[in-house]
Amino acid sequence: MGLFIAFEGLDGSGLSTRAKILSDWFKKEGYSTIFTKEPTSSLIGGVIRVALKKEWKTDPKTLQLLFAADRSHHLQRDVIPALGDGKVVITDRYLFSSIAYGSLEIERKWLEDLYSNFLKPDITFFIDTDPKICIERIQSERFGFELFEEEKKLRSVRKVYLELAEKYKFIKRNGTVPEDEIGNGTIKEVKRILKEKDFSLQKFIKTEK
Ligand code: TYD
Repeated sequence: MGLFIAFEGLDGSGLSTRAKILSDWFKKEGYSTIFTKEPTSSLIGGVIRVALKKEWKTDPKTLQLLFAADRSHHLQRDVIPALGDGKVVITDRYLFSSIAYGSLEIERKWLEDLYSNFLKPDITFFIDTDPKICIERIQSERFGFELFEEEKKLRSVRKVYLELAEKYKFIKRNGTVPEDEIGNGTIKEVKRILKEKDFSLQKFIKTEK
């Protein structure tokens, strides 16, 4: 079995940048690494994006079932085969996004039950950034605002993430460190966990350099 790492956080928290830095680090170290994201670019992911932009209207539970279908397809087609081959899989968002964001409109138990049989990551990083900073970053980078990108909503999502962080033992990282320090802490943390959990890196496939 390979190693499954998920990155979670608010929109604008910087989670994609960090996920990419860690993925590049594993690749540089010579490990066969898959960098992926949810919602995916599949047909189901496309429907989700249209719904998030409010170009197609559905109800909250149907939207959650689409996230679940997208995730199931992603797991069966990409993640599980790669882990079976002993690869490192790093995903930019995974099922805790569904629970944290979904809790804005749906009871948490319904969401946790829905994902109870889905594969859990070996390591989940939560990039914790103040919602005010997230909004400023989003405003400076993008045109349209998606459904969940409002400060009040982000504050509620963060609250759920922090509860999930305790329950599921996420690794919390501060999302507002200076740019040249981004990644250093995450990589150090990964090395520590690999040692602690006795995940020998030798177990994973090294690509030919
Ligand atoms: P995001 O990572 O921002 O995608 P992109 O960078 O391609 O726009 O994710 C889109 C939004 O979807 C974001 O607000 C988080 C939300 N989301 C959920 O509500 N549930 C989920 O399961 C996932 C994966 C994302």
